Amino acid sequence: MKVVHTKKGAREIINGWKSKGQTIGFVPTMGYFHKGHLSLMELAKRKADKVVISIFVNPTQFGPNEDYEKYPRDIERDLELARGIGVDMVFAPKKEEMYPEETKTWVQVEEITENLCGRSRPGHFRGVATVVAKLFNIILPDIAVFGQKDFQQIQVIKQMVKDLDFPVKIVMAPIIREKDGLAMSSRNTYLSNEERKSALCLFKALELSKRLVMEEGISEVATLKERIREFIQGFPYTKIDYIFIGDPENLKERERVELPLLVALAVYVGDTRLIDNMLIEG
Ligand code: PAJ
Repeated sequence: MKVVHTKKGAREIINGWKSKGQTIGFVPTMGYFHKGHLSLMELAKRKADKVVISIFVNPTQFGPNEDYEKYPRDIERDLELARGIGVDMVFAPKKEEMYPEETKTWVQVEEITENLCGRSRPGHFRGVATVVAKLFNIILPDIAVFGQKDFQQIQVIKQMVKDLDFPVKIVMAPIIREKDGLAMSSRNTYLSNEERKSALCLFKALELSKRLVMEEGISEVATLKERIREFIQGFPYTKIDYIFIGDPENLKERERVELPLLVALAVYVGDTRLIDNMLIEG
């Protein structure tokens, strides 16, 4: 497994593979791997000749009061895990390599970034779209794999790829969960034992939504939302950031339940903001 820290180093290796006609599958990450990240790499391996991953905690997608500084990092452990999967190259640049000077060009995807996480994290998706565009230009992947865990992120990237004609196919990988259902996340390490118990409210609320739609036949989104709100509020240390129920394609809220339906949640458990979602497809 090759580990490179510069754009030049990455390009040399990529050019060598491209000249032999090998296809490249790419998984961008911020590191501190869990099984969710690893499942994306495995999927990329099945779909392309060479697998490239990036490990970069991207400062431009964090708000001023967010956890950029304290975001968990452990590059040695990450490299070990990536090696175990059979990753071919890890691109792990320093901040100065990705942003040598102040960025004056930003990728701003409109409309679908206004809702959900875009509303509570202004500027977040501008940072994500910009860094992913840069990474695509460095790695030149044929396919790139993203997790459903960040559902809005993958829709933003798909829109960017379409609008800016990036020659890359975006693949969505399913959410990997702990045994009890908690979606794996690098941020779960912030949770205390008591908070960890409450963190399960997200997955349980998603399961409840599915039951209410599929078994009880709830038809008003407002009613469904109220039931979910009450349910989550029953767990200690929780504070709801948003409950989104709507169209998975354009991320617009719906008034009436209609399939397919996306239920997406962001909930603070203590100081930790967790997200999760479920597609109800019938
Ligand atoms: P990060 O949070 O490290 O996530 C990297 C990829 O792993 C994303 O595509 C995310 O959706 C996926 N992922 C996270 N948890 C998952 C889980 N439980 N199951 C399946 N996939 C999961 O997302 C980012 O980094 C950044 O925004 C990035 C795209 C790298 C741009 O900086």
